[in-house]
Amino acid sequence: ASDGNISVDPLRMVAKELKFLTGNIRQLLGSGHPSLDTVAKYYTQAEGKHVRPLIVLLMSRATSLSPKAARYGGQQSATDIDNAISPLSILSDVNPSTPSTNPIAHTQTSYPVGDSEILPSQRRLAEITELIHTASLLHDDVIDHSVSRRGAPSANLEFGNKMAVLAGDFLLSRASVALARLRDAEVTELLATVIANLVEGEFMQLKNTARDEKNPVWTEDAITYYLQKTYLKSASLISKSCRAAALLGSADVPTVDAAYLYGKNLGLAFQLVDDMLDYTISEKELGKPAGADLELGLATAPLLFAWKHNQELGSLVGRKFSQEGDVARARELVLQSDGLEQTRALAEEYANRAINSISSFPDCEAKEGLIDMAIKTLKRRK
Ligand code: FPP
Ligand code: MG
Ligand code: MG
Repeated sequence: ASDGNISVDPLRMVAKELKFLTGNIRQLLGSGHPSLDTVAKYYTQAEGKHVRPLIVLLMSRATSLSPKAARYGGQQSATDIDNAISPLSILSDVNPSTPSTNPIAHTQTSYPVGDSEILPSQRRLAEITELIHTASLLHDDVIDHSVSRRGAPSANLEFGNKMAVLAGDFLLSRASVALARLRDAEVTELLATVIANLVEGEFMQLKNTARDEKNPVWTEDAITYYLQKTYLKSASLISKSCRAAALLGSADVPTVDAAYLYGKNLGLAFQLVDDMLDYTISEKELGKPAGADLELGLATAPLLFAWKHNQELGSLVGRKFSQEGDVARARELVLQSDGLEQTRALAEEYANRAINSISSFPDCEAKEGLIDMAIKTLKRRK
């Protein structure tokens, strides 16, 4: 940066580890069967953003300087953690009457580079996280009838639904083996719960689409349901893998909880932005179909906020935008409303919460990297 500070580049901070990520993942996916090999490794060819492994690696670094604790053996189940640490807040909780500080507005400072090494188990965790994510994409593209991913034809289009589903299962299986080899029962339980959460979130989304009320009226419940679904579908993987990273580093309980909260809030911000980009960015730039949510009958945050002030959207939601012209009309109404703006504001609130979650971490480069990831989440265009 021009003011003489060391510029924060989260990618550079864990570049050494990320360099080996794709190669290691491809190694984990090796199969004696050539065509399974091809389908299973297909989404590793195009350069993904590797957001999740990047966050896991930064979290590993950032928590390595925190106080250590003897592992307490995980009396709490992975599901209890979701409820005990912070029950998913409804909207009124997200916009507290006393506004939280806005760290995004703060300027960056430089810190000494004193972080210790990332453990091999934490590097493996980063790979497992990407494997689970990629498996969910293989299945998601089948469910969504998607034709493109990461700027190339989707696996289901290229190889058919059957092979795409089986390849996803294969990725999950290899992720599970790698997880078992970490020999850490608590971390295994966390990541196994993530897989269940992904399915639960996807089911909530399907069930929501299948709502058969004819002309539903807007209530706050629609947003609460959406946020719960979003946590399960998107934030669970990031939050629980951040928690697992801290656990593998033997961090103390407050640090482990802070890591979880960072991941949870960042994951929610990330998906809110994703749902916004679906309205605002072209397929070419996204590398996957744009405007897909309405086509799939899905009412995401921008529409839910627009619906609050326009009951016309209720009847469109009721019939899942299925009639000729519905998608275009809904899109028009959302773009005319402040729905996108409100979605952005909510994403920013969650990004701020992510940053505040790790405020007690000792200052270091990796912590700055995590803060930068939260800021970049809001600015991203793909
Ligand atoms: C992408 O969402 C999809 C997910 C984040 C999770 C999908 C989960 C499943 C299909 C459950 C079963 C899978 C496994 C491996 C347990 P999106 O469709 O909103 O985003 P997109 O625009 O990237 O397609
Ligand atoms: Mg999809
Ligand atoms: Mg989907």
